[in-house]
Amino acid sequence: MVEIDSLLHSGYHHPAQRPWQVERMLTKSTLMYPIFVTHEKDSMTPISSMPNQCRIGVNRLEEFVGPLVAKGLQSVMLFGVPDDFVKDAFGTAADDPNGPVIQATRLLKSRFPELLVACDVCLCEYTSHGHCGHLNPDNTIDNKASVRRLAEVAVNYAKAGADCVAPSDMMDGRMRAIKQGLIDAGISHRVSLMAYSAKFASVLYGPFRDAACSGAQFGDRSAYQLPPPSRGLARRAIERDVREGADMIMVKPAGFYMDIIRDAKDLAPNHPIAAYQVSGEYATIHHAAAAGVYELKPAVLESMTGFLRAGCNIVITYFTPELLDWLS
Ligand code: PBG
Ligand code: ZN
Repeated sequence: MVEIDSLLHSGYHHPAQRPWQVERMLTKSTLMYPIFVTHEKDSMTPISSMPNQCRIGVNRLEEFVGPLVAKGLQSVMLFGVPDDFVKDAFGTAADDPNGPVIQATRLLKSRFPELLVACDVCLCEYTSHGHCGHLNPDNTIDNKASVRRLAEVAVNYAKAGADCVAPSDMMDGRMRAIKQGLIDAGISHRVSLMAYSAKFASVLYGPFRDAACSGAQFGDRSAYQLPPPSRGLARRAIERDVREGADMIMVKPAGFYMDIIRDAKDLAPNHPIAAYQVSGEYATIHHAAAAGVYELKPAVLESMTGFLRAGCNIVITYFTPELLDWLS
């Protein structure tokens, strides 16, 4: 005999009951779409490591983003892919007024004023060594110089019209420096700060580094990105970034780090939490679907469900164009 306290099926036997189990619903406004903007102004070049994604030149951006906005796209995150020859030890080109990110920000804000434009802030796309900050002579990170430069870049993106800046460099104290920079520039009221707080040194960034040509020329990023086994450091980083003025908290990657998404929601219950389903997760799901492991659509939707259940409010994903169709 089944005991009364064993019975669960009665709670979800009817299809109408199942959505009642949902805490956070996937909607179009949940999604943020990462876009690679190249210095080649007229180009739309497929990225071989990321199925269906392109590096897009500023002159092609309107035709690319327009149809997505029409389908309900509400926010994008911009990554710049500069010309190789502009790279130097300091990432000078990061805030070049004629560089891809500032050009794209201006264009998007003029054509689609309602669209939230977030700019990823980092130096690795712009440094000759490919690290995310400035280096000391012994090739360790010069944190102080890095933070000064990153804050400058973030403020310049914001001055160009970015609604949100999202530093992915993982330097210590950059949130406070950027917030102070925005205050000093008199624009802190119209620019939000999304903290890549729990960004782990992951194998899952490979396709992105290919797409953005941003791989480190020597060494790796494990002295600044978090060690994958570390829950404690992630929790400390989340608490720190809240103290330093973050408006949103991000966990990245998403799929292997769902416990950290939940930690973020617990530690920062009054902040929106973002989960970044990164390039390697995107490519993995595509390749698995192509190999017949599962169907693409239900797999992507289940991944979204997982992130939301774990506690996030925002999902940054390369599947955004497909999701906008599926949610229509
Ligand atoms: C740059 C940056 C990276 C990603 C976002 N910003 C790569 C890295 O840290 O090497 C990864 C995004 C993705 O894989 O989709 N700091
Ligand atoms: Zn970087």
